[in-house]
Amino acid sequence: MEKEECSSAEVDNSAKDEFQELLQTLERQTNWDGQRLVKYEGFWLLELFFRPILSAQKYFKAKGTDVILSTMPKSGTTWLKALTFSIANRNAIPIDQSPLLTSNPHKVVPFLEFDLYWGQEDLDPERILDPRILSTHMPLEILPDSIREAGCRIIYLCRNPLDVFISNRLFLLENRFSEDAVLLELDEAFDRLCQGIHDCGPFWDHMLGYWNAHLKNPERVLFIKYEDLKEDILSNIKKIAEFIGSPFSPEEEKQGVVEQISRLCSFENLKNLEVNKSGNILGLVKNSSFFRKGEVGDWVNYLSPEMVERVKNIMESKFQGSGLIIKI
Ligand code: A3P
Repeated sequence: MEKEECSSAEVDNSAKDEFQELLQTLERQTNWDGQRLVKYEGFWLLELFFRPILSAQKYFKAKGTDVILSTMPKSGTTWLKALTFSIANRNAIPIDQSPLLTSNPHKVVPFLEFDLYWGQEDLDPERILDPRILSTHMPLEILPDSIREAGCRIIYLCRNPLDVFISNRLFLLENRFSEDAVLLELDEAFDRLCQGIHDCGPFWDHMLGYWNAHLKNPERVLFIKYEDLKEDILSNIKKIAEFIGSPFSPEEEKQGVVEQISRLCSFENLKNLEVNKSGNILGLVKNSSFFRKGEVGDWVNYLSPEMVERVKNIMESKFQGSGLIIKI
C-alpha cells in the first residue's frame, strides 16, 4: 500500500511497531523498587515513561516564552514549581487566591513527559497559562529539540545526591508503583546509585549536562541548588524572577511581595495545606509524600561514612575541571 493511503490506525500501529523495535535494542536494568529501566542516549529511564518521552521529543512545540523546570526526581521539584508559578503569575493572580492553596503544585505545573504525553487528553499544551511553565526530569540531551530551537528558558534545580537518594528511597517506600514492587536493600540500592543505574541516572551526567549548558548560555539556563534555596530563599526568588524576565520592582520589594511568595511556597505552609495532606496524583502518588522533611543533610541518619566517601570520590572525578561543586 502507498504511504499516503494508510489510515491513522495503521500509522499508529506502525509507530507502535517502531517503538517496540527500538525497545528491544535497549539495555535494561531495574530501578531501586524493581521498576523496569531502559538505557537511552546514555541515561537510564523508567520504561513506563519512555514512550511519553519519545512522544514529547516528537510532538512538543515549544514557544520562546516557555519556562522549563528541570530536576532529577526528589531534588525539590515541588518547591521549584510552586516558586516559579507564584513568581511568574504574581500580577495575574493575587497571592491569597493562589491555586497552590487548593491544588498540589504538580497539578498547577504539569510535567511534560507524565502529564502531557501519557494519555492526559484533557491537558492541551496550548491551554496552559502564558508564560507556560512546564517541568521535566529529562536530561538535557533528551529534551525535545523544539525547546532549544525556541530558545526557552530552563531552570535546573540540583540537590546533593545523598539527600536525593534517601528522599527517593523513602518516597518509593511510601508509593508503590506496582503490586509486586520490592525495594532493594539499602546497600544494594546505594551501589546502583554509584554505578549510575537509577531513574534519570547517572546523576553526575544529568547534573553536568545542565551545568555545561548554563556555563555556555547563562541567559537561557539557570542552575540553582536546593541547598542554596534553603540558605537564602529571598535572593533566589529574585534571581528566578530576573531570569524569567520579570524582576521585582522597588515597590513590590517594599510591599514585601518576595517574602509573601517565600511564605506561600515554604515547606511548612505547603505541607500543612489540606490539599497536600490527602489525595493523590493519577491514583499513583500520595500528595503528602512530596512533603517529607525538607531538610539538608538528612542522609546522615541513614548512610555510613564509607558510603559518603564513595560518592564524594565519584563526584570529584566526574566533576573534575567542570567547575561544578556539590557540597556534602
Ligand atoms: P525530603 O524527602 O528530603 O524531605 P521533589 O519535589 O523533587 O519530589 O522532591 C521532594 C523533596 O523536596 C522532599 O525532600 C520534600 O520534602 C522536599 N520539599 C518539598 N517541598 C518543599 C518546600 N516547599 N521546601 C523545601 N523542601 C521541599
